[in-house]
Amino acid sequence: MSEKKLSGDVYHPTEEVINNANAKCDELYNFAERDYEGFWAKEAEELHWFQKWDKVLDDSNKPFFKWFTEGKTNICYNCLDVHLDSARRNKLALIWEGEDGEFKSFSYFALHRDVNKFANVLKSLGVRKGDRVTIYMGRIPELAIAMLACARIGAVHSVVYGGFSVEALHERIDDSESKVLITCDGAYQRGKIIELKQISDEALQRAATVSSVVVVKRTGHEINMEPGRDMWYHDLMALPIASNEENVEMMDAEDPLFLLYTSGTTGKPKAILHVHGGYMVGTYTTLKYVFDIHEDDRFWCAADPGWITGHSYIVYGPLLNGVTSFMYEGAPTFPYPSRWWQMIEKYGINILYTAPTAIRGLMRFGEAWPNRHDLSSLRLLGTVGEPINPEAWKWYYKVIGNEKCPIMDTWWQTETGMFMITPMPCTPLKPGSGTLPFPGLQMDILDEEGNPVKPGEEGFLVIKNSWPAMLRTIWNDPDRYVEQYWSKYDGMYLTGDSAKRDEDGYYWIIGRVDDVIKVSGYRLGSAEIESALVSHPAVAEAAAIALPHEVKGNAIHAFVILRDGYKRTDTFVEELRKHVGHEMGPIAKPEHIEIVDSLPKTRSGKIMRRVLKAKALGVDPGNISTLAD
Ligand code: WTA
Repeated sequence: MSEKKLSGDVYHPTEEVINNANAKCDELYNFAERDYEGFWAKEAEELHWFQKWDKVLDDSNKPFFKWFTEGKTNICYNCLDVHLDSARRNKLALIWEGEDGEFKSFSYFALHRDVNKFANVLKSLGVRKGDRVTIYMGRIPELAIAMLACARIGAVHSVVYGGFSVEALHERIDDSESKVLITCDGAYQRGKIIELKQISDEALQRAATVSSVVVVKRTGHEINMEPGRDMWYHDLMALPIASNEENVEMMDAEDPLFLLYTSGTTGKPKAILHVHGGYMVGTYTTLKYVFDIHEDDRFWCAADPGWITGHSYIVYGPLLNGVTSFMYEGAPTFPYPSRWWQMIEKYGINILYTAPTAIRGLMRFGEAWPNRHDLSSLRLLGTVGEPINPEAWKWYYKVIGNEKCPIMDTWWQTETGMFMITPMPCTPLKPGSGTLPFPGLQMDILDEEGNPVKPGEEGFLVIKNSWPAMLRTIWNDPDRYVEQYWSKYDGMYLTGDSAKRDEDGYYWIIGRVDDVIKVSGYRLGSAEIESALVSHPAVAEAAAIALPHEVKGNAIHAFVILRDGYKRTDTFVEELRKHVGHEMGPIAKPEHIEIVDSLPKTRSGKIMRRVLKAKALGVDPGNISTLAD
């Protein structure tokens, strides 16, 4: 770090944090800048390869970049098997607490054993290298086991967030043409059971590719089991097919690891494709340096495994680093607002990584709840998912971190796979800023014409070089990959976010510039919410926009035009909200629905959501020359 005096509200890391850090930040930035490929090669060398790579980066077919070409590895092998010959064998890999207080833990040995057995079960169900498997579960250890088992045998997992519902699940199973669905008999949330199996059954009525369904017993309540199709996880794991025979598939570095559906600007959600080699190196390295991982750390990423944050930093990143990952099933405030603080104390969590919405939600209950618990085990804190407002940052810093834990405000995306703009333990922090790009990354903020904007000005955030954990393509739609990410500016990746840089070069994310909506940090598309609304027989047209919300960051507001013959009644709006909940999931339910007679459109018929938003906020809608009337 330069010694230059920084402007604004600056929080310097303590001497203790800097002196204890595993790596010297300056050296990392310098090395990566001097020799970008060398930097990543050195990291990759710390992992296991059945066969070493020829080339670190192959950019001969941009924007279809390849990393570690000809290298042979397996991310699951690197998460589990490599730790079995050391003292890590009996160390805890995963600690899990259920919302109802149930507890489970797995040593690296035990997790390896179960993953290996379940991989053999999958094989006996006919799953082969390259086949897709959909995973739709609550936050339970078997979710991680299922992901790792797929990776082990080269199957491609597609995890669907357990908060999604019938249509969202159906669409994702269908698009990925999954052979097997792994689900559970229900998930606990706020003391209630989410009927994941019932939702699966409904979704499967319309999905033709699934031949087997594996069901994990979590709640034990009565569910439908379809003979010949549905099998209990515990039954399968007790059969001889769940053998201990080793089954690691040697994977090409560029072989698919998983699909993760995410919302884009238009139409259906798209499947982001990540691969074994580069994704492994990227998540391993970023977690190690940004959260300064120490051998005996207990790392808690409080995200859901159904989103990229959980993939990279509950499952893969921590296990690649050989630390203990903590997973909690339920809601942060159940049964009391002290639930999280209680668990930090109980398990001695060292690092907590969560989202601004959770912090704001917990902050509302006041300091007394966290103050009642010993949080002194915490060494570092993290945040992700949306910009954090400085008040929430300061509360997190003071009340949870006791003014000694730096806050890693990490900016990244499903597409990037790993942290991209982030502090390091040595970085002086400014509340609300993700600070600087990770070592070696070249990022910029551009105006419409592609010129870098001046400090303090807003523009489009872009990435100018390739990075190992980047998405490789959109599954089955390479044209859309090129069009969406690589076509606005020549040779640059378009993030879809707007941002500013201050005079110290610190990045400040403003938000999405497309029609992606972030509700409580969850990524949804206006188009998906609209199609859920329009699938109701009474709705002719719909538009969904995001309006600011104190806790959720954004809340969805929808405008609908009714079909002829339908009248607005008191219960109708509630029925529509429920309908969206059933089709997409509870998080997608609009906060507010307004019945209107017309919607602002361009002459070519595109709804101008920008105009609706400006009107709702009572601000100037800007240029409306393309408005039809
Ligand atoms: C937003 C989540 C501000 C951003 C890992 C991005 C953030 C989108 C931050 C990706 C942050 C993520 N500060 N905004 N620290 N982190 N975002 O794909 O708009 O669910 O484009 O990945 O979240 O959301 P996704």
